[in-house]
Amino acid sequence: MMKPRILVLYYSQTGQVRQITDNILSDIQDKVIVDYTPIEPVVPYTLPWKATEFFDVMPETVQHLPIALKPLPDAIKNQHYDLVLFGYTSWFLNPSLPISSFLQSEDASILKGKNVITVIGCRNMWLHGQETVKKYLQTLQANLAGNIVLTDSNPNLISVLTVIRWMFKGKKEASGLLPAAGIQEHDMKRASRFGMPIYRHLAEYKLGDLHKELLMMGAIHLKPALIILERRGIKNFRKWAAYIREKGGPNAPERRGRVKLFQRLLTVAIFILSPLSSLTAMIQLQLQKRGLLNDAEYFKGLEYKEGVI
Ligand SMILES: Cc1cc2nc3c(=O)[nH]c(=O)nc-3n(C[C@H](O)[C@H](O)[C@H](O)COP(=O)(O)O)c2cc1C
Repeated sequence: MMKPRILVLYYSQTGQVRQITDNILSDIQDKVIVDYTPIEPVVPYTLPWKATEFFDVMPETVQHLPIALKPLPDAIKNQHYDLVLFGYTSWFLNPSLPISSFLQSEDASILKGKNVITVIGCRNMWLHGQETVKKYLQTLQANLAGNIVLTDSNPNLISVLTVIRWMFKGKKEASGLLPAAGIQEHDMKRASRFGMPIYRHLAEYKLGDLHKELLMMGAIHLKPALIILERRGIKNFRKWAAYIREKGGPNAPERRGRVKLFQRLLTVAIFILSPLSSLTAMIQLQLQKRGLLNDAEYFKGLEYKEGVI
């Protein structure tokens, strides 16, 4: 049999998402042919971030207003692929801006008719992002065949503190009382367990059964309380995005005041309101348990329905 050919198409600013795709493929390297293609903004985002620039990307990220990307190489566009691993992260509860830009670009037509496995690496909030990606993939007539999600399993507030240190100081390693930022090392390494099932389903032309097996192997952990927090968060982000954009486009001096206000309120929401909103979310969780458990099953799946989040 000819070796299956896999395209890893991804955007990963720090390399974390790329490392996940590497680990997923590590045990099947000699069984498949792999091409790697990063999605590259014409103007790259800098790491560490300046706080003003970090919060300034929120409105366009939430409204999916595309940035300019470098074109994909022709050799990739003209190649046949049996599978695409589409690696991305969430920014402000949405696919990162390079990813939503790509999905709206002409180059995204390479996904037409292709089998796609989405690979998400983020802090812990990916539901609305994946719904958005599902929708774009449907429009592009791609076949979503699986989803693998790795998140930081530290408690929410710890992961906020470490992600801040990572994004604004470029310090990922443990320091003081805080653990290392990002997805934990053993979770990263264990991603290699997904390689063989992916290969087997590819080789047997049974990709339709793959996602069930990935789920049984723990490819997605989803805490129902997060559904409530994401629903609340996305509503607020949409309002803030529109409010900031009234004053101008990316980095416009006129909108700096509003961006700063958003930054302050988000900080208050996370550090002061968060314990309170976790409490109200817990109460809501008890009241709506059955509905939320059904929603959780939906979010773990591949089907796309408008407006679940
Ligand atoms: C602008 C920005 C916004 C982010 N917003 C979120 C978010 O809403 N939810 C989340 O779980 N992680 C969020 N993150 C963290 C990322 O999910 C991710 O862990 C980190 O950026 C590493 O991804 P990379 O592989 O692209 O470097 C955000 C990161 C950036 C840079």
